[in-house]
Amino acid sequence: MHLTTLRVLAFLSNGEEHSGEAMAEKLHMSRAAVWKHISELRQKGYAILSTAGKGYKLILPPDVPQQVEVHRYLEATLLGQEIIFLSECDSTNALLKSLAEEGAPEGIVLTANMQTAGRGRRGRTWLAEPGQALLFSVLLRPSLAPRELYGITLMAGVAVVEALAGLGYKATIKWPNDILLTNKKVCGILAEASGEIDHTSYVVLGIGINVASHPICEEYSCTSLQEQAPAPKRSRLLAQILNSLELNYKLYLNGHVQAIFDKWRTHSATLGQKVTAHTSQGDLTGVAKDINAEGSLIISLSSGKEVTVAAGDVSIRAAQGGSRVE
Ligand code: BTN
Repeated sequence: MHLTTLRVLAFLSNGEEHSGEAMAEKLHMSRAAVWKHISELRQKGYAILSTAGKGYKLILPPDVPQQVEVHRYLEATLLGQEIIFLSECDSTNALLKSLAEEGAPEGIVLTANMQTAGRGRRGRTWLAEPGQALLFSVLLRPSLAPRELYGITLMAGVAVVEALAGLGYKATIKWPNDILLTNKKVCGILAEASGEIDHTSYVVLGIGINVASHPICEEYSCTSLQEQAPAPKRSRLLAQILNSLELNYKLYLNGHVQAIFDKWRTHSATLGQKVTAHTSQGDLTGVAKDINAEGSLIISLSSGKEVTVAAGDVSIRAAQGGSRVE
């Protein structure tokens, strides 16, 4: 979808009625252009009512995480002030990166009912059935150098676990930031940053949570919120995560990274476990001892040697028989 069409969609996302004239003025385009973008959105399946003399109103079915619904629960004042809901896109991360390049403001959220090319960590794809997951990306513009971003994904993991705790789910975190329920993956987080050596232009934080059901993953066991307890509405869940993310993000910006890491330790599913770390240099097996001040995982190998893993994935090896948590 063209970025200008997205802006028209974003404008309508508060669920209110807007006159063509007001939209043309606010969006700096002609009324004919507004009409053209509205037609394009309708062709893509968006139901937009137009009332003579009044204007356009976007109608969306219930339990889509659209702005007007999310704002009923939102306490955050920086994140989620503008939320764009898409019926479909390739990847909310990819699209939000384009919006970021065009100067989109910090805190804007892009959420989609389905993705055709959802991205996972380390070049993997992220699968979710239409309407069954909460898929969103939020734009951060931290005044930090890229070298200071080392803890941002751990911070996001802590925020999701705290949000889920507020909704009655006891989740844990597998290093670095896979969110587990009953030792199965329920949520993945992908942070993508852009900037120069001493200046971060933006971070796009993408979060995918299996809500009503989960895809069958060959590589690891998955679950959904619904499999554990009646799932909340996606709008409520999104608001809860944005509230918790904003609190932790502000802690991070104010230099309290180690306090966030302490919280990460208390929610960790990894520390104290026998793990295999899959790194670009190969596999390393040992006991996960701790995370260091940069959030890297410290593993004690059977030789007694300690290694530090800054990037990669871990599998947790069950103590006696049982399945591995990849
Ligand atoms: C992982 O591999 O665990 C990370 C998965 C991240 C998936 C989310 S879904 C919303 C956002 N858009 C994407 O394309 N990916 C992230």
